[in-house]
Order: sequence, then structure tokens, then C-alpha cells
Amino acid sequence: MNTIFKLGACAFALVAVACSKPQSGANAEIESNIDALLSQMTLDEKIGQLNQVSSYGSVEAMADEVRAGRIGSILNEIEPANVNRLQRIAMEESRLGIPLLIARDVIHGFKTIFPIPLGQAATFDPEIVREGARVAAAEASAAGVRWTFSPMLDVARDARWGRVAEGNGEDPYLTSVMGVAMVRGYQGDTLGNPASIAACAKHFVGYGAAESGKDYNSTNIPPAQLRNVYLPPFEAAAAAGAQTFMSSFNDNDGVPATGNRALLTDILRGEWGFDGFVVTDWNSAGEMLSHGFCADSAEVATKALNAGVDMDMMSFAFVKELPRLVKEGMVSEVQIDNAVRNILRVKYRLGLFDNPYVDESLRDSVFYAPSHLAAAKQAATESAVLLKNDNHVLPFGSNVKRIAVVGPMADAPHDQMGTWVFDGDKDKSITPLTALRERKGISINYAPGLAYSRDNNKAGIAQAVAAARQSDVVVAFVGEEAILSGEAHSLADISLKGAQRQLIADLSATGKPLVMVVMAGRPLTIADEVAKADAVLYMFHPGTMGGPAIADLLLGDANPSGKLPMTFPRMVGQVPIYYAHNNTGRPCYGSEALINDIPLEAGQTSLGNTSYHLDAGFDPLFPFGYGQSYTTFAYGEPHLSSDHIAKDGKLTVDFDLTNTGDYEGAEVAQLYVRDLHGSLARPVKELKRFQRVNLKPGETQHVTFELPAEDLAFWNPEEKRHVEPGQFQLWVAGDSQSGQPIAFTIE
Ligand code: GLC
Repeated sequence: MNTIFKLGACAFALVAVACSKPQSGANAEIESNIDALLSQMTLDEKIGQLNQVSSYGSVEAMADEVRAGRIGSILNEIEPANVNRLQRIAMEESRLGIPLLIARDVIHGFKTIFPIPLGQAATFDPEIVREGARVAAAEASAAGVRWTFSPMLDVARDARWGRVAEGNGEDPYLTSVMGVAMVRGYQGDTLGNPASIAACAKHFVGYGAAESGKDYNSTNIPPAQLRNVYLPPFEAAAAAGAQTFMSSFNDNDGVPATGNRALLTDILRGEWGFDGFVVTDWNSAGEMLSHGFCADSAEVATKALNAGVDMDMMSFAFVKELPRLVKEGMVSEVQIDNAVRNILRVKYRLGLFDNPYVDESLRDSVFYAPSHLAAAKQAATESAVLLKNDNHVLPFGSNVKRIAVVGPMADAPHDQMGTWVFDGDKDKSITPLTALRERKGISINYAPGLAYSRDNNKAGIAQAVAAARQSDVVVAFVGEEAILSGEAHSLADISLKGAQRQLIADLSATGKPLVMVVMAGRPLTIADEVAKADAVLYMFHPGTMGGPAIADLLLGDANPSGKLPMTFPRMVGQVPIYYAHNNTGRPCYGSEALINDIPLEAGQTSLGNTSYHLDAGFDPLFPFGYGQSYTTFAYGEPHLSSDHIAKDGKLTVDFDLTNTGDYEGAEVAQLYVRDLHGSLARPVKELKRFQRVNLKPGETQHVTFELPAEDLAFWNPEEKRHVEPGQFQLWVAGDSQSGQPIAFTIE
């Protein structure tokens, strides 16, 4: 290591001291406890706190390292008795009695599995999302887990990326609102409550912009996009008190997040005042070797620590290299003290020093508690998005007696739970087939047609067709097995796999009313299948209670209210596709010629010369924020408190919303804003508010959105984040493509 690097290490030490101060309002008693403990710790014990390992599978295998203080956190140990044995070793047999922090990926439920986060986002209901996180915390903490690696806040606009399943979709505002709801649900009102668990805002940052939607791929996010699209949900989570952040795998413009000091220290701590701790993703520190950002593990440890990483998940670079690096003056012990402080602060806040043990009797009464299952069913019901309902095929009326239930997802208890399910039991997962069979007054003709979503064996399709012919209506459950989305599960082709498309085509050919229910981890390109079906209900893997929720929706005991958290492309070639795009210099006006309309020998400049694909057009299949209901809603003319506001002013938007149909239902009213001219080209629309409104038939409610001008601020490289005066438009509507613009000015 050269001298410049040594000088660098000292410089980092000085900055580290500046960053070691906790957020304002920190607990003085905790800080003094930390100081007292730190003063007793050896260098090895300090470095041990920075080390997170995945359970070796037995207490015995980890006991010596825990006893020696070489492990600060263990992930993937979820047997309460083992957790207590490990904590007893840490508390009673180690020199200083520092408790372990036990972690697990509890992404959308621990035992009771809620819809995948993308489905929870489709509810546009932060309260049900908060409740889901609270249920997850209650169940996980009953197993001894006190830290989850959730919420995942990666804005994602590319459905090829398998991890869109874990996020809240394409919009920064929706992602921020849902992320804050999860943080509050996990951490509760009191972090020290044994049923609270520390949240983890991940993956910091920009992971969802992986080039070509290929997981772990590089991202190339420029500064303004980083500030205006990818960072806001993380800033919101920090402001909501998320106790931990996780550095992401990706390099952005050549700098891996795990080695990015501007991100992990300057922005996270310097600008946002975060005083929890930063954990790497699984071996993301070690992966800086593969990135070509580090030459050896000593540089890995140095760059990660200097960037602002506090805890190393599974690269072991910290425990391997830091003792020597400190001795040789390559890194300072002050930097290590700073990281230890951040970790101890969270352990104190969780109350682990007072009580690190789990009540082993809790699990039986907490796992799958009736109230948990009820909340999961409510979330699944609200997550369903009705994309089509020709001739009011849905909900089924009393005239529907015989229902053909077909398709590989009709009775797939494991797959309906979706990705990132470690602890949910498939035998607790109630499928649509099971739920429909339990209903009175209807008979079910079941023929899967295909054994699983990738099944190319068409031999069973004839049976499914026969079942359809013997029935009044057909419900085809198609989509994706759980393994086809989530981490490391990106797809280049996002159409229905296996022979599912053939199944839908053959069912459609019977002429029977065809309802297609899709269960998937992402938007799929289903334009042809939508055209063939009479009704389409889309569920992003609905979880344990998906079956009962779907049965209620099909039979009219519930009314769909979900809205799309991601734009649905017509063809994968349109991806990335999202509503909050810039206008470009050649916006499409919708009258462009499509490929089959182009005359032979058309002249070079004869086409629209605007921004669209000849073979797909400009519009998506379904826009962000879209979702139908069994009823209809009418929006009254929005009234603005003024058509001009000061830069520090506030706009109030009032309107009536009426249920003009025959069913009670919930509408998600959405407020979009456009900044017509700015120091940067600004998106054609941005979601700024939304509200679920439950209405009985004929009922009208008056809805009010408050919009401070500050919420229209954006960050531009020259002047940082600011509100720019100018002309704006706003829309109040039920999706991102509807409504009429209303002008207003910021002076
Ligand atoms: C994984 C994921 C991350 C997860 C962590 C621990 O690779 O990227 O989201 O929390 O490792 O399992």
C-alpha cells in the first residue's frame, strides 16, 4: 500500500470522527453505555462486531467464535432454542457479554406470507402494508429474529429484472410511501419491544436499474436521475428511522456501492443524518475483487470501511484483514470504533442488552394467528388488479353453477407464495382450487391442463378443454412459478412460459366465458392472452391466502381495487417502459403508423419521425396506476385553492368522487403533476399523492389533496434540490393516462 494511501487512511479517520456523532435526539444513556463498552473492547472484539455470518447449522459449530467475540450478527438461524443458546454463550461466556443480532430475510411475511411487495404496492394502501410488516415482525421475532433485510426500495422500470417482485414498482413516490409503511410496521412504536425488528433499507442504491434487467449487472445512473428517482425512497426510509441500510451489489458508473463513500457516508450520514449501521449485501464487499475495483482482500476491507460500511456480510474481509491493516496504519482504529458504535447503538435500541432471549412458547400462538391470516387475505384481496371485464363476466352471478378451474397455478400452494419465502409452509397456503371447492352453490370441474408454468407437455390441455365445455364459465390460472422471479431470476422473454399460451388459445376457442387469473412476480407480456380472455385478474403472487381472496373476488364477495405499480409493456422490446418518462424532442402523438400500416416502398421520411417502435407503437398494454372495478367511479371537476402559489406555498386540490355503479368498491384517486419547463427536462407526469376511497353505490365523497410546492422540488447538478418557478399542470384521475390537465403556476 503506498504512502498516499496511508495519508488517505488518516484523512478518513478524521472524517470518521465527524461522522461518529449519532443523529440528533440520540439517547444519551445509550451513547454513554457505548462509550463505556468500547473502552473495554480489544481490537479483535471490535472487529468481531463488524462480522456477520450465516448460521453454520448448529450451535456447536458457532459456539467458539461467539464465545471469543468474533461474530456480531448471525443470519438464517430461526430455531428459537438455538437462538437462546447462542445468546446465552454471547451474554454469559464471552468476555464482555455483547448480544448477537439475529437476522433473516423476512421480505413479505415470515410464516403467514403476504403478497410479494410488488403486489402489496398494487394495493396503494400503506396501512395494509404496515400491518403486513407488523405481522411479519411479530412472527419473526417469535423465532428469535430481530432484524430483517427489508424493505427493498429499488425503483425498477424493467420487468425482465426478477427482483421487481421484491420492490414497489416504477415510481419513487409510491415506493417511498410503501417503504416508510414497512419500516414503521417492522420497527413499531418502540424498537425495544421484543415484537419489533430492525428494518433494512436495501439495496442502496440503484440496483433496479441493472442494464438489460440482468441481475447483478452494472448500472449507469447519472447524478440527476440518482437524486430524483433512485435516492428518494431511501431518504424517506432514513427519515422514518430505518435502523440499517444495505449496500447493493451493482457498480454504478464503475463504482460498486459497497465501496462508494459519496453514497454510504456523504449522502447517507452527511446529508440525511443516518445514525444506524450499514451492512453489505452477501459478500458484496468480496465481490469488489470481481468488479475489478479491488486487487486483494486487504483493499476490499480498506475500501469498504473507508466508504462507510459497518458490517460485512459473508466476505470475511473485515475479520481477515482489519487487525493487520490497523497495525500497519492503513486504516485507523477510530474508523473501526465508529462502525462498532453504529452497530452497538442499534443493539441497544432493540433492547438486546437487557433481553436478547426469545420466549420459546410464543411461536405456536403467533405463527399463522387468525388475525395474521385475515390481514394476509385482506392484502391479497386489495392487491388484485382487474385488467379487463368484458360484458361484466365478473363477478359470477347466481346463474353460474359449474366452473371449470384450469391452469398450472390453480392449485400451486408453493408457487402462489412467490419469491423470497424461506419459512412459509406450503401446506398452509390455500389455493384458488381449494377455496372455490369450499364454496356452496357451485360445482368445480378441475383439470390443470399443464403440471407447472414451464410445462410444455400439451397432453393435458384436451382435458382442460373438455372441463370447459362441461361448465358455464372457465377460470384459467396461469402465470409464473415462484422460482421465475426474485434474485438471480431475470428473463429475456416475459411472455407466458411453457404451453400456457396454447392452453389459453384452446380454452378461448371453446367460446365459453373465459376468465384469466395471472399469478406472477412481474408484469408479463400477455397482450394476445388478454385479447382472448373475457376478463383478466392480475395477482402478483398473492401469498398464503391467495386462494380465499381470489374466490371472494370471482364470486363477488369482494370487489377488485388494485392498481398497477408498474407499466405493462405490449412487447418486451418496449422495456424499459414507464409513465414518468421525459417528453423528448420528438414525442409520439398516437397517430403514428404501425408496421402493418406502412405502404410498400414508403419514403425514408414518410413515417411519423417521432419516438415509438414501429412494431409495438408507443403506448403500453396497461399504464401505471391502472385497474378496473366491478363498479364505476366519476371524478368531479377538481378545484384548486389557487392557480398560482409561492415557492414556499401550498396548493389544495379538492374534488368529488362518486360511485356511479352497482357495487361497493374502493377507488385509488391519484394526483399527478408536470413541470412544463425546468433547468432540466422534467417527466411528463409524476405521481405526487394518492388515496384509497371506499364508496357505496351512489355515494359521493369529497377528497382533498394537499400539495406543498416543496414537493415539486427537484435536484439539478448546478443548484442541488430546489423548487423552480414556472408553469405546471396537474391531473386527478384513476390512472396515469386518464384525466384532463389543470394549469397552475409557481411564482
Ligand atoms: C441476498 C440479497 C439480499 C439479501 C441478502 C441476505 O443476496 O441480495 O437482498 O437480503 O443476500 O440473504
